[in-house]
Amino acid sequence: MVVSNNEADIKKINQILAAYKGEGNLLIQVLLEIQKEVRWLPKEGLLRISQELNVPLRQVYHAVTFYKAFSLVRKGKYTVSVCMGTACHVRGSPRILDRVEQSLGINAGETTPDLKFSLDTVNCLGCCAMGPVMVVGDAYHGKLSLDQVRRILDSYD
Ligand code: FES
Repeated sequence: MVVSNNEADIKKINQILAAYKGEGNLLIQVLLEIQKEVRWLPKEGLLRISQELNVPLRQVYHAVTFYKAFSLVRKGKYTVSVCMGTACHVRGSPRILDRVEQSLGINAGETTPDLKFSLDTVNCLGCCAMGPVMVVGDAYHGKLSLDQVRRILDSYD
């Protein structure tokens, strides 16, 4: 039997929820764990979270739509965040973002069709001296030049 991605995601969500039955006070922690493991929060998953943590569904939706860390659409394996804060901006981050968008064939806020990369912008990563900065997954790439962008993205499997 072939298990669809969605079914596999719900299965993983159920496994995570098994450790948090009735723990409504841990809603944000549970959402963060699921977002990290499954890379999105499918609607069916929200219903399961509501049932298992014993939290009203509207409260779950409120949390998911309030925090930028959560996504209701499937995210890529790697999140690419290009810093558009002032220090990075004056050092050329708009051109870096253009190059990333061009290289991936998507705009900020989108995910590549192969679900490899999701692209976002951020306002400051707290390492302004390294600007312009781009983060791919957990790796920071600082003092970026336009020529480096493609090579960095190509180095991710
Ligand atoms: S402005 Fe980019 S790291 Fe602070």
